[in-house]
Amino acid sequence: MTSKKKLFKGKTLAILTGGGDTPALNSSIESVRNRASLLGYKVYGIRQGWKGLLGDGDILDLTHQPYDGFYGGTALRSSRTNPFPSSKNPENRVPQILRNFERYGIDVLVSIGGDDTNGAAKRLYETEGIPVIGFPKTIDNDLRTRTIHNFNGKEIEGVLCPGFPSAAKGIMEFTDRIRTTAESHSRILVLEVMGRDAGWLAGGGFFGGAELSLVPEYEMTKERKEFFFESVKEAYMKSPKKALVIVVSEGVKWYDDATGKTDFVYASSEVDEYGHPRFGGISGIIASEIYNKLGIEARAQMTGYYARSGECRLYDRRLTSTLADKVVDLLLREEYGQMPVLSKIPTYQELEEFNCSSVDMGSIGNRSLPEEYYNIDKFNFTDAYVDFLTHILGKPNFLQFNYDFPVVIPKF
Ligand code: F6P
Repeated sequence: MTSKKKLFKGKTLAILTGGGDTPALNSSIESVRNRASLLGYKVYGIRQGWKGLLGDGDILDLTHQPYDGFYGGTALRSSRTNPFPSSKNPENRVPQILRNFERYGIDVLVSIGGDDTNGAAKRLYETEGIPVIGFPKTIDNDLRTRTIHNFNGKEIEGVLCPGFPSAAKGIMEFTDRIRTTAESHSRILVLEVMGRDAGWLAGGGFFGGAELSLVPEYEMTKERKEFFFESVKEAYMKSPKKALVIVVSEGVKWYDDATGKTDFVYASSEVDEYGHPRFGGISGIIASEIYNKLGIEARAQMTGYYARSGECRLYDRRLTSTLADKVVDLLLREEYGQMPVLSKIPTYQELEEFNCSSVDMGSIGNRSLPEEYYNIDKFNFTDAYVDFLTHILGKPNFLQFNYDFPVVIPKF
């Protein structure tokens, strides 16, 4: 295709990334940038999410620039800025955004984000007529992508968001690695995993060998807690090396013996511009209660940003490229206010554009862990979830050292 014949020559497409970062953001930016350039667009990067469209604007030209999509995080940087008035910031910043759209000559916006960023983009499309296309991202995997997972002939409404495959793999490896320390000290290690109020990411820990898992979808009431401690004791006694790894989602509601209430554990009382509080600290509470109630040594470990950081893994690389192919389709049809998604979880390695569809950005919403994926009585994930993750992460293949050395009896 010569440049003269390029369909969108003279037009400008801008990309922004909003919300928490993921290892797949640069890959998403690069994939969209490459395809938009081929269509003839000039491609701009808006820095720090919606913040880069405030004031004088903070915009970079990404056209024909080298770009490393394997490097995690976002070269455009991110923020949780909300263009619309919120309790934290009552100012309506939409007029500033519209002004900068004109000043920089932006024709189309691709907003890479979760429910908040894409929800704001959709509002701008509906109320101001700004052509937007959403691009999914979250390590929490709780954006409703309506991706169907076929398990034993049953169709389960799953979710697959760029960022989650790399993050889940990181949590899987973290869990596997920490086992050697748990074994060396005969300890119980409680790993706290991000994911806000959905348990998808904690499944990475289960996949990495955690014996018990707690997810936010099922709150830990007084009764559930008692049952849980019995299960912990039983699992510990049964474990050959007297070691356990327990994975807990940051957003699990936990019964507090002192207040008699079952509630979230917050890291701070602060909320962001979309009204989200910050969770954190439940693993420490569980570890100390294990010690106090069962007398077994336990330690808490926050996996924190480990899941969000580092290189983009191959599955995410393929996923972002495939969804960017669908962005091309949406651009060609001028179908705005849409977000590309994978229609089905493929049972083979290759991801393809014909397995993509798009969802209306106004109806994205959140999707927590389906009940088919968690066994409430065993405090663990089900075979259906193992199947789901196996398609994305491959089969775990961990090294094991199964020793049973004979005990030496003294001569006298
Ligand atoms: O939504 C992504 C996420 O990583 C959540 O899992 C977590 O609760 C939150 O962001 C933490 O965000 P930050 O520390 O960047 O405020």
